[in-house]
Amino acid sequence: MKLKFMAAMSAAIAIAALTATGVASCDANTGDASPIYGVKLPENYRLWPLIAPAQEAAPLNELRAVVGNDLAIKAYQDSTLPFPDGTVLVKLAWKHVQSPEFEPASIPGPATTVQVMVKDSKRYAATGGWGFGRFINGKPADEAQHQTCFACHQARVRNHDFVFTRFAP
Ligand code: HEC
Repeated sequence: MKLKFMAAMSAAIAIAALTATGVASCDANTGDASPIYGVKLPENYRLWPLIAPAQEAAPLNELRAVVGNDLAIKAYQDSTLPFPDGTVLVKLAWKHVQSPEFEPASIPGPATTVQVMVKDSKRYAATGGWGFGRFINGKPADEAQHQTCFACHQARVRNHDFVFTRFAP
């Protein structure tokens, strides 16, 4: 009786372990890397601290939020420039829609893109130390889109380590 119970338990544990692995590899969502840079969506970025929100006017009409990993937050707090290797910044974006419950309020509609910048000063020496990734529904955008990233960041915010976003007060 006891043995039978033990066997049933270990089978249950094995199944639970298998399920957990399945969920983890799916959850990690890191299968696909961006062209040119090989940047992947970081795990758990959705729970990272907020650096600042932003709004983009028409035609894109988006609400955005830039979040960062621990290194990014510390660098902002200490005003460290350039950002240290290992810094990761993620920009989430949604269509900007009117609240159905309260007209003057804007709320996030469908998600559009998730964009990532990873600091690795050796690997990405040619692009200011930053690797770029743009993802739509978890899949990286094409190479042509990735060719635009550094040029714009370099033209506008070279003096802030190629990063637009300042920490919102
Ligand atoms: C035409 C200009 C332009 C291009 C091209 C561009 N960005 Fe940006 N990016 C911005 C601006 C402006 C912000 C500031 C936040 C905002 O307004 O959304 C920003 C913010 C970001 C951020 C948050 C960190 C920061 O610098 O504020 C990430 C991550 C990012 N962009 C990634 C990318 C990636 C990846 C690409 C290429 C696929 C890209 N960007 C192409 C203008 C650009």
